[in-house]
Amino acid sequence: MGLLRPALEDIQGRHASPVVVDAGSGNAYLGFILYELFLKDAEGGVLLNVEGRPELTQRAKERAGRLGFSRMEFQTAHLESAQWPERIHLLMALHACDTATDDALAVAIQKGADYVAVVPCCQAEVATQLKEGRAAVEPTLSLLYQHPWHRREFGSHLTNVLRALTLESFGYQVTVTELTGWEHSLKNELILGRRVHRENRQARAKLEAMLGAYGVRPKLTRLLGVEPASSTPAPPAADITRTTPV
Ligand SMILES: C[S@@+](CC[C@H](N)C(=O)[O-])C[C@H]1O[C@@H](n2cnc3c(N)ncnc32)[C@H](O)[C@@H]1O
Repeated sequence: MGLLRPALEDIQGRHASPVVVDAGSGNAYLGFILYELFLKDAEGGVLLNVEGRPELTQRAKERAGRLGFSRMEFQTAHLESAQWPERIHLLMALHACDTATDDALAVAIQKGADYVAVVPCCQAEVATQLKEGRAAVEPTLSLLYQHPWHRREFGSHLTNVLRALTLESFGYQVTVTELTGWEHSLKNELILGRRVHRENRQARAKLEAMLGAYGVRPKLTRLLGVEPASSTPAPPAADITRTTPV
């Protein structure tokens, strides 16, 4: 909640009835705490929970009813086919399984959400793509993931790097940080985005170059129609870290 507070206070300061979405909400634990702290005593604001398992939606809905959390809404749906509000101010997804995090990020980007906060879960898709595309990758790079264990870890890391870069290329200012202590969860990477531009062409070029260099195309980039660069060289490292103080 401390990490989300700046985003929540900003949208509550600018909008009478901000719309917050929790994608892959499960039992809606995150939503209940957020509602209690930020929305219960506010004049307006809606928290929509979207979850694929009907029994979880039902249980959380009953709990919200008992607590009188009337602006907490629930939808049972797969993230790919859910009905999304026209305007989303903050979209969050906590441990949305595998590519469900990509579905959530795609919705945030397509709806132009002011803020997005995801803590990704396990990721398997890119590790498979790395294995299949090994032959075409620069040999020294492919040494990073020739063993299955390394491929899983590197695939997961690469996925999140590409997710952050995708957010940047669609105009988000991105912070990647630790959610909590490692003793609580190994799925501990919080990717926070704040929309500041319509697009960022430099970031887009880096994203396309990375997709080309590693021969991967994660779901998020497929959903958004981002194609790998075929022969574009990666921008120099100094440019990649342009926000680092000198
Ligand atoms: C690990 S749980 C996390 C639940 C909740 N966000 C939390 O942190 O307590 C992941 C949840 O995402 C849901 N989920 C996974 N993929 C989904 C999808 N494609 N569409 C909708 N829900 C999905 C699962 O049913 C599950 O409840």
